[in-house]
Amino acid sequence: MSQSIEKAWWKETIVYQIYPRSFQDSNGDGIGDLRGIINRLDYIKSLGVETIWLNPIFKSPNDDNGYDVSDYRDIMDDFGTMQDFDELLAGMKARGLRLLLDLVPNHSSDEHKWFQESRKSKDNPYRDYYYWKPPREDGSAPTNWVSYFAPSTWEYDDKTGEYYLHLFSVKQPDLNWENPTVRREIYDVMKFWLDKGIDGFRIDVLPFLSKNLNWPDQTPENFDGNLGHFYANGPRLHEFLHEMHEEVFSKYDCTSVGEGPGISPEQALLYIGKDREEIHTLYHFEHMDLDRDPFNWVKPKKWSLVEFKAINARWDAIVEKGGWNTAFLGNHDFPRMVSRWGNDKQYRNESAKLLHMYLLTQRATPYIYFGDEIGMTNVDWQDINQYDDLQVFDGLNKWKEAGGDEAEFVSYLPFTSRDNARTPFQWSKGENAGFTDGKPWIGINENYSYINKESQEDDEQSILNFFRKMTRLRRENEILVYGDYQDIAPSDPAIYAYTRTLGKEEWLIAMNFSDLATSLGSGHLENKKLVFGNYPESATPDGNALRLQPWEAVILKNE
Ligand code: GLC
Ligand code: CA
Repeated sequence: MSQSIEKAWWKETIVYQIYPRSFQDSNGDGIGDLRGIINRLDYIKSLGVETIWLNPIFKSPNDDNGYDVSDYRDIMDDFGTMQDFDELLAGMKARGLRLLLDLVPNHSSDEHKWFQESRKSKDNPYRDYYYWKPPREDGSAPTNWVSYFAPSTWEYDDKTGEYYLHLFSVKQPDLNWENPTVRREIYDVMKFWLDKGIDGFRIDVLPFLSKNLNWPDQTPENFDGNLGHFYANGPRLHEFLHEMHEEVFSKYDCTSVGEGPGISPEQALLYIGKDREEIHTLYHFEHMDLDRDPFNWVKPKKWSLVEFKAINARWDAIVEKGGWNTAFLGNHDFPRMVSRWGNDKQYRNESAKLLHMYLLTQRATPYIYFGDEIGMTNVDWQDINQYDDLQVFDGLNKWKEAGGDEAEFVSYLPFTSRDNARTPFQWSKGENAGFTDGKPWIGINENYSYINKESQEDDEQSILNFFRKMTRLRRENEILVYGDYQDIAPSDPAIYAYTRTLGKEEWLIAMNFSDLATSLGSGHLENKKLVFGNYPESATPDGNALRLQPWEAVILKNE
């Protein structure tokens, strides 16, 4: 193992991400809630994961499902009460599970009392909690910036005749981090939750916290595809994060993971290098961008394994320099893992297992998105009304504005919409997949009759039980966490093969990311025996060669 790696619980832990709205409803209103999670804690524990990341649970009018917070110190009505939260946390602690909450510090809801005050008058004490700017001379918005969820990032407010900034929807005004009082408010919120005993935060759109106060216009090439770069890594960002570290992180045994759109591997150490005293880890988007049009998220495009591996190699290199990575293949903002990176038809079982093997053998903290442990897939919805996400509706408006055809837009959604990953967890083949007794807030994937937790529970060959074996393997073998990583076939178009080494031990992970049987040739195959595989009869090396079946994945180690 590299001398430079310092051990830490947050490097060793396995994270399970829950989108609470879709996990388990407990009161028949069709919306998942905290009590639903409480009722499922034994299941979560049985997965062998150790940390839960919950998408935002704070009070919110739900314009963007909780990413628009109206009170950072209270629980969303749909999800329950503070008492439920306390019970959830106690239940987790009793089972040795840790909790990360989702902090949304870049923007609040327009229904937050800070914003309600701020918009009242130019001299309101809360005015500077947000970015207000007068119109340009011709009356237009202060810049030509395009918002993620709206045509412009500026909304005109009649009351005071000024525009406010919102990188996301008009109901998500950006908080002004230049204002030290705003920063203190957020640090106090963080301490409020850490004092309750949580273990840290996932931090929403972290690189956007500091703005370019010159407010330059974008050139047309920058629109859409380059938004992330334009808004990310602002001039005072590192200063703010260092302050956050001093004020909050340094006082607790906690961790943090920044959502990192627009952060390159070269910049990563500036955020997570230990000497920097900023945040602990981040997750980047480079592989997430491989299969979509850089200028329009809705349009899918083919991705290549060679590129994927090259991205991983560049990010893995930061570990040698004192950094640490996270591994994920999907979350609430992207389609389902197996539909994207695997084959969710003919080889759904095999490819879902392969992807779990990948996640749990990386030199990085693995993040598993709920439902992936049973191989849930994308939806097949051809009707725009089946979707519930503001990104879809804004995307369609922009698409039509540019002269696009609605039917074409809708045809792409089953590949790229965020709602693919937001359908309810499929507990059983019973009514509403066992998710709710009421009417689910969003459609349930029709395939719940055969893809569900119940049917996989007692099946030794199920994706679910494969996943459990993989988490156990990782927990019991330090080599999978800290061992050196080396890609031994970076240019192979179908096979992803890498070694993990620790002292005298060498493990080899070989995975066939294709529908065709194919062979790997490598000196690393000699004298290796099988540890684990995703086929009932696993491939074993024949001298220097290993023949892998479609989507076959094996772990080998030296004798
Ligand atoms: C992040 C969240 C996403 C949300 C956006 C605005 O990207 O993951 O779900 O819509 O920030 O808060
Ligand atoms: Ca409910």
